[in-house]
Amino acid sequence: MNDLWIVSEDSFDAKKQHHKETVFTIGNGYLSTRGAFEEGYPKDHRATFVHGVFDEAPIVFTELANSPDWLPLQVLFNGERFSLDTGTVEGFERSLDLRTGLLIRTVRWSSPSGLKATLVFERFASQADEHLLYVRCRVTPEFAGMVEFRAGLNGNMNNEGIVHWHWVAQGEQDGVQYLHNRTRTSGIDMASAMRVDSFGGREVERAVWDVENSPTLMLRLEAEPGRTVGVEKRVAVFTSRDVAADAVIPSAIQHVNAGAGWEAAFAADAQAWAADWERTDVVIEGDDEAQISIRFNLFQLLIAAPRHDDRVNIGAKTLSGFGYRGHAFWDTEIFMLPVFIYTAPHIAKNLLNYRFRNLPGAQRKAQGNGFEGAQFPWESADTGDEVTPTWVPHFADRTKLVRIWTGDIEVHISADIAHAAYQYWQATGDDAWYIEKGAELILDTAKFWGSRAEWNAEAKRYELNDVIGPDEYHEHVDNNAYTNRLAQWNLQAAFDVLAWLREHAPAKADELIARLDLNPDRLATWREVIEKIYLHIEPSGLIEQFEGYYQRKEVNLAALEPRTKSAQEIFGIEGCNETQILKQPDVLMLQYLLRDHYTDESVRVNYDYYMPRTDHTYGSSLGPSIMAIMACDVGKPDDAYEHFIRAVRADLRDVRGNAGDGIHAASTGGTWQAVVFGFGGLRITADGWTTNPRLPHNWKRLSFKFFHRGEIHTVDISG
Ligand code: BGC
Repeated sequence: MNDLWIVSEDSFDAKKQHHKETVFTIGNGYLSTRGAFEEGYPKDHRATFVHGVFDEAPIVFTELANSPDWLPLQVLFNGERFSLDTGTVEGFERSLDLRTGLLIRTVRWSSPSGLKATLVFERFASQADEHLLYVRCRVTPEFAGMVEFRAGLNGNMNNEGIVHWHWVAQGEQDGVQYLHNRTRTSGIDMASAMRVDSFGGREVERAVWDVENSPTLMLRLEAEPGRTVGVEKRVAVFTSRDVAADAVIPSAIQHVNAGAGWEAAFAADAQAWAADWERTDVVIEGDDEAQISIRFNLFQLLIAAPRHDDRVNIGAKTLSGFGYRGHAFWDTEIFMLPVFIYTAPHIAKNLLNYRFRNLPGAQRKAQGNGFEGAQFPWESADTGDEVTPTWVPHFADRTKLVRIWTGDIEVHISADIAHAAYQYWQATGDDAWYIEKGAELILDTAKFWGSRAEWNAEAKRYELNDVIGPDEYHEHVDNNAYTNRLAQWNLQAAFDVLAWLREHAPAKADELIARLDLNPDRLATWREVIEKIYLHIEPSGLIEQFEGYYQRKEVNLAALEPRTKSAQEIFGIEGCNETQILKQPDVLMLQYLLRDHYTDESVRVNYDYYMPRTDHTYGSSLGPSIMAIMACDVGKPDDAYEHFIRAVRADLRDVRGNAGDGIHAASTGGTWQAVVFGFGGLRITADGWTTNPRLPHNWKRLSFKFFHRGEIHTVDISG
């Protein structure tokens, strides 16, 4: 039987190198390292991203800097260097144990001159002590002679050509090699300290090669046929975000020397992981692919989740790739956050605190645009200012530039954040947080909506014009239903907050009313907007995605099959804008978020209408999990399964061909929601919770846990 915790491959395919580097990413919530090989290859996209370590970059403003590399470990047999592209690879196997985050690669290799050996590389980023990283290589030679290991730290890293690091210093102290680098514009210091121990054979030589920016320790061990020899390399990483700049080196050195050896460190790591899985695991019986895949998705989310830092968020590609430059989107609040709210509320709180800390950035953005309150950036990094690029090269012709409007007009994110804050409070009952931070998030975003809404005197209604809704195939639309309705919800929630605060924390209510200038005139305007915002709903319950949507061209998407391109690539950006094709199901997302406000019939009508108009496979990766939930809602679990499987496979099977850029983080969170809220039918209400299971026909059992108001509950459903 398959081990349903292991993601593995049994051959190496250079064409899938970048995709697999993403899949085999490891991490611990402080940093992640892509699954590039220890020995290094010219075309690899090797990268380690540490949360919060941003540096200025052209076009994209700022990006997570690809950090000094802790992995380098070369192996030589009697002077011949091990490499997958020389000699003969006689066996290859790689596996990631999702239970513990241990990545193992076993290669049987014959050198060009015929020296054979089995090499086992293992690595993990300690979950028990997030500053510690471990890599080990065991070699079982079939020859006599010398096995040489070269273990290094490499500061010569870049982000696809952009260099972010200065060399500052390097040296040796207490038997440890260290390297000190600093980001070029943000001035973040990082120290890496390395300690290497050999085992299994006589060390005949040990030398430090003090190469600038790449200190390396060389060890030669005697080799005998059949006797395993190896090295264990332990690295500690500290940045000036963790400790004072002048303490990064001493901290790293002290830490690496105090750190446990492999066995003890791995045991502690496994224990920390076990505690995480105890809360987070989802058991699916009867469907091995779904079982492994959901665990993989959760693993990827967990390794990107900041446990001890509330100044960072999770980027749209987690910490696993260069895509979207480490920037955070609404992907966090709508897709990932619910997973944490219900399985790890302390992580959810960290992520929401990041938004709270960044209220000044959101206020700057609102002010810059002539609005009031908090307008959160579409893409957010370290300062909370807008970092969406304004122009990027066209996907079809890189000599042309395309204007990116999302940073200007994809405004729904402010309501998404308010909604997430409210959801966190509802689910956890964390009143102290709500009083201190959550309330302000809701009130200040409401203030933005109050100023952003425009009065149309002729039609006698409030409007939100010139926006982009979640469906980004349609830009510059008026009165996007998702945006208008969530803005209305945000304003309504603000009144609820004020009423609640007046009762439970009157001093805070007074303070916020004064500081945010929530005067009677402003509140009267909010009431007007709530009442008169334009929402177009047909008598049947069908919601028009935006004003004029019905007049766009209808396209029979099924007739385009089979295809490997998105509708936008087929019709072009402008062409697609003119059709009814959706990148993601905007209206269904709205109904999902505000489910209690819609009848079953209205959900069915909208599902039937928008489902065939959605670009499921090649549109947004955010769509399929929501489709799965809504398909469950309308009683179509087998259709739901099709959407769900598309979502859980997104990265494992590289459905969109871009997994090499990093994990589709929103999709990972969406898959958990699809299982729990879709197939499990979990509904949380003011009075408690219920389930309404709708399992796919092949599922024999579904079991998961969730926290509600401080208590953990288990749901166990038989198919
Ligand atoms: C999607 C957005 C998403 C972004 C980052 C875009 O392609 O349309 O909804 O926030 O990717 O994942």
